[in-house]
Amino acid sequence: MTTLGTPLSPSATRVMLLGSGELGKEVLIALQRLGVETIAVDRYENAPGQQVAHHARTITMSDPAALKALIEAEKPMLVVPEIEAIATPMLQELEDAGVVRVIPTARAARLTMDREGIRRLAAETLGLATSPYKFCDSLAELQSAIDGGIGYPCVVKPVMSSSGKGQSKIDGPADVQKAWDYAMAGGRVSHGRVIVEGFIDFDYEITLLTVRSFGADGQVQTSFCEPIGHLQVSGDYVESWQPHPMTPAALQKAQEIAQAVTADLGGQGLFGVELFVKGNEVWFSEVSPRPHDTGMVTMATQWQNEFELHARAILGLPVDTTLKSAGASAVIYGGVDAKGIAFDGVAEAMRVPGADVRLFGKPESFVKRRMGVALVHADDIDTARSRAREAAACVKPRVAG
Ligand SMILES: Nc1ncnc2c1ncn2[C@@H]1O[C@H](COP(=O)(O)OP(=O)(O)OP(=O)(O)O)[C@@H](O)[C@H]1O
Ligand SMILES: [Mg+2]
Repeated sequence: MTTLGTPLSPSATRVMLLGSGELGKEVLIALQRLGVETIAVDRYENAPGQQVAHHARTITMSDPAALKALIEAEKPMLVVPEIEAIATPMLQELEDAGVVRVIPTARAARLTMDREGIRRLAAETLGLATSPYKFCDSLAELQSAIDGGIGYPCVVKPVMSSSGKGQSKIDGPADVQKAWDYAMAGGRVSHGRVIVEGFIDFDYEITLLTVRSFGADGQVQTSFCEPIGHLQVSGDYVESWQPHPMTPAALQKAQEIAQAVTADLGGQGLFGVELFVKGNEVWFSEVSPRPHDTGMVTMATQWQNEFELHARAILGLPVDTTLKSAGASAVIYGGVDAKGIAFDGVAEAMRVPGADVRLFGKPESFVKRRMGVALVHADDIDTARSRAREAAACVKPRVAG
């Protein structure tokens, strides 16, 4: 039985978000609606989630000592990682010592922060279909991995990176050096390990949001949202839509893969399982043990969006993954490098039929920083996609004043 308390009182149910960007902000709002006392942590002040939480803390989350000190001081019931760049071995230590419960598990946070951990688990332990891959520590190793079977075209990614950072496609021998240099500049940590993957010529790619929650019988049950289609540019999501049509065979395969990988990672919560699909063939790509950026579309399409599903699942509450309407999302980029920017055209965006706009409230804008998202519900995904693009284009970020 789940018992929830009263925030800011001794009975409070306290939850700490590690990472308080746009995804964390929505998880925090969902928790706030249930009267949970929230602690929003980020590496910079006034991060989006810090603006909607009871408490805001600013630390370097990749620093194990700082992370330990904060968790021991705040004593949250749950720690919810929202980003990958966290000192996950310390989370593991604290979880093992019974100090805190990590969502979904400390092991899942550790395995998925590193492409090597999750890829070896999926392909070598679970036997799931993935792109062919090799891990390399030097340009020479990269070249021999390609010559030794990965072939061209292929994709190179730092093992520690997200949102397409340091990632590039190699079409032939002339691109290898450039891809290596780019990966070295784009990784999160200095040691230069990369994964090289054979390029999968997929028809489409999806995110299958998968929820592990408690059923009435007290057992963990796995539920799936409708598949989310998305468009990536330079490894970063620009548009998503739901439901993406799939053949029954491909959908079944996708759910089997998602079931297998989330069952192994364990715990409770929502996962974003990224899959490539060609005909009835499905490849596992990667998984986030937390809400997924492409899943922001569920704010327009589901009765319980992915953030509410995550909040409910981690608290031991029941979930409903039913679709409400077809819909789409389109990213609004900063377009300028400046602090405290202004947004024109929000009213015009909201006049697009079925459209809504979320602005994340990030204190500083960069040309390619995600500052907001347009959300649209419509009768079909083609209409939703074109209206989401139209609404996003109406919003014009600019230097204030
Ligand atoms: N082996 C591959 N074959 C074909 N396309 C690929 C391959 N690997 C990656 N991509 C493309 O690049 C995108 C980003 O790759 P991936 O998800 O591995 O990187 P990421 O940095 O973790 O991105 P994000 O954090 O946005 O999910 C994929 O969604 C896909 O469109
Ligand atoms: Mg990805």
